Amino acid sequence: MKNYIKHDEWHIIEEGFDPHLNRISESLFSLGNGRMGQRANFEEEYSGDTHQGSYVAGVYYPDKTRVGWWKNGYPEYFAKVLNAPTWIGIHIKIGKLSLDLAKCKVKDFRRVLDMKHGLLHRSFIATFSDGKKVQVDAKRFCSMADGEVGAIRYSLIPINFSATVTFTLGIDADVVNKDSNYDEKFWERVSEESKKGMAIVTAQTKKTFFQVSTGMTYSITSGGKPAKGAVKSSMREKYADNTITLKLKKGEETVISKYGAILSSENHPKAKMNAIIRRKLQHTLTTGFDKLLADHSAVWSHTWQECDISIEGDIAAQQGIRFNIFQLMQTYTGKDERLNIGPKGFTGEKYGGSTYWDTEAYCLPFYLGTSNPKVARNLLVYRYKHLPRAIENAGKLGFTQGAALYPMVTMNGEECHNEWEITFEEIHRNGAIAFAIFDYIRYTGDEDYLVEHGLEVLIGIARFWAQRVNWSADKQKYVMLGVTGPNEYENNSNNNWYSNTFAAWTLGYAQQALEYVKKRNSSRYDKIVAKVKFDEVEETSKWKEIRNKMYFPEDKQRGIFLQQDGFLDKELLTVDKLRPEDRPLNQKWSWDRILRSCFIKQADVLQGIYFFEEQFDLPTIKRNFDFYEPMTVHESSLSPCVHVILASRLGYKEKAYEMYLRTSRLDLDDYNNDTEDGCHITSMAGTWMSVVKGFGGMRVSDGKLTFSPYIPDQWKAYSFRLEFRGRVIKVKISKAKTETLLEFGEPMEIIMNGRPVRLEKQGSAL
Ligand code: BGC
Repeated sequence: MKNYIKHDEWHIIEEGFDPHLNRISESLFSLGNGRMGQRANFEEEYSGDTHQGSYVAGVYYPDKTRVGWWKNGYPEYFAKVLNAPTWIGIHIKIGKLSLDLAKCKVKDFRRVLDMKHGLLHRSFIATFSDGKKVQVDAKRFCSMADGEVGAIRYSLIPINFSATVTFTLGIDADVVNKDSNYDEKFWERVSEESKKGMAIVTAQTKKTFFQVSTGMTYSITSGGKPAKGAVKSSMREKYADNTITLKLKKGEETVISKYGAILSSENHPKAKMNAIIRRKLQHTLTTGFDKLLADHSAVWSHTWQECDISIEGDIAAQQGIRFNIFQLMQTYTGKDERLNIGPKGFTGEKYGGSTYWDTEAYCLPFYLGTSNPKVARNLLVYRYKHLPRAIENAGKLGFTQGAALYPMVTMNGEECHNEWEITFEEIHRNGAIAFAIFDYIRYTGDEDYLVEHGLEVLIGIARFWAQRVNWSADKQKYVMLGVTGPNEYENNSNNNWYSNTFAAWTLGYAQQALEYVKKRNSSRYDKIVAKVKFDEVEETSKWKEIRNKMYFPEDKQRGIFLQQDGFLDKELLTVDKLRPEDRPLNQKWSWDRILRSCFIKQADVLQGIYFFEEQFDLPTIKRNFDFYEPMTVHESSLSPCVHVILASRLGYKEKAYEMYLRTSRLDLDDYNNDTEDGCHITSMAGTWMSVVKGFGGMRVSDGKLTFSPYIPDQWKAYSFRLEFRGRVIKVKISKAKTETLLEFGEPMEIIMNGRPVRLEKQGSAL
């Protein structure tokens, strides 16, 4: 755990330059806009430890799988989030010396992420080895108003000298992925162009043939006037730049406004990209930094109006939630149904792929609550479009007749994860995708979705579960063998309660969905049945039989569900007995030791209880929580938020608050010692859920929003907004009272602490 980020309500602040923390800060201060993003690398050269990272949404590389021991069924490739061409470079030389913070003495270093305006701001004084001193102030953003544009304003003042200085403003497509399996470069050159005032590099990915054109243009002033200096343009393979030589006077400020544009062939015809990028660059130059920034900030201001959570009396908690919301909103804007939310977003490459079960289980509720329903719908449609691939994935593993297994990790619907215990066994992901359909309809009331898309997906998933279970003559029950549940510190276990519960639930929900669509739109029903060759009588009776005879492991004496068969054979220890030097276990213990231990990486039984909460009474929830929580190490970022929600329900306020800080400040304080790889974007949605579903007690029941809020002792007040069925409501909870305000939309009824409350347009107070 680290503690170097200064607490502030709207800013992430680092003061003083510590090169050991640089990779962590590069992750934390990342920028994005849904279309592209970048780690907070420096504009100038940096020869110290760094992870240079720029990313373009939807652009990936299928890197040939590399494993120690090939197993049938492994995917041929692992889809890598591609490190993409970068436009941020401003390299500065005075004589023979480069401005390089690894080589200069650095004073007054300050890096600030202004979350209100989406702006990265960095300032410092650097002393070169020959004693020359410069003062630098750099501002940068990726425009939320135009996802293909970004801008930098870079100011430099020579403090104690006058000299000739060169500024090299480049575009670099000669970039590598550090995780390349065969040390291969993934980009091939298409073209380079550099002329006075502008450079464009177009590169293409091998195998997938995505083309990306990256361009830059700029203006420079010295002492407030357009700077006059010699410009030399140069190019080499996958690189182009302009070097501007200026005579700088002591104390006089030189300001470079550099504009970047990135176009992908996912969004433009390849033949037109060159013309479009030129127009775009010209437009940025005439618009100027201030106006581009104003347009960008206006989008942020609107976004914050819709989704801010304010917390009074606890700056660390406030900063945590805003950081999480900020990162989510700059990763996925919901405008493009082909895109999804990678676990690292635009902040790093780890995990490859862009889509995990994280999207449905964690991100969907966040976008449902904070955005237009189209955004959440797009996430669902993404999976609908991948249904044929999910059927192929299942086919590769021997499943037949339209059974669908959605991938654990994917870019295009095809499974690309290649560890057997996850690829073949972590099949619970199918459950989250089915549940997302239910959750979306429960929240939005959009039952048409079931008719148009949902039913087909549910049939595919139900067919998978029906084939994945087998009849145990011994138990006289259906069992599910060889699975990995959400807790990845157990592999190849039998009868993971969570997976069995999801299988049974999906079979029931698919049956209900069939009945609904049949009644509601019989011709659509007939079409679907014909399309998927559905044998209604045979398949549904099999589903029913499985549901009725499914095996759910439990310990009757303790009154708990068992994570899997044999769980009680383990030595049952609690996390507080672990030595700090053994944590995190996945970095300190051998894998077999982890597998044999009782320690739980992330909510598993408790994850199931969270999803199906209404099926269990409070004492059952309590017994399971009291049993499993003390064994949980939360070494997945997805874990603490589920514990906040259940702890809140149980009145365990201290535990809920402890877990809230852990989820909301997971990256800011580097709890799991891995923020340098990138931020945990998908689990950030869990932070939002912790406040709204945890402390606010928000649920949806019978088409109505219900709340049972409380306030953590450490807070004075907090408030959040919800989009719900054409309305926007604001809920504010203080120590003394709870207020609800209908900010937009028709009057509605909510349930507050079990009592119906009518909200009128002007709002009403409780
Ligand atoms: C978790 C998975 C998750 C993945 C990506 C893993 O550490 O165990 O549940 O899907 O990270 O976030």
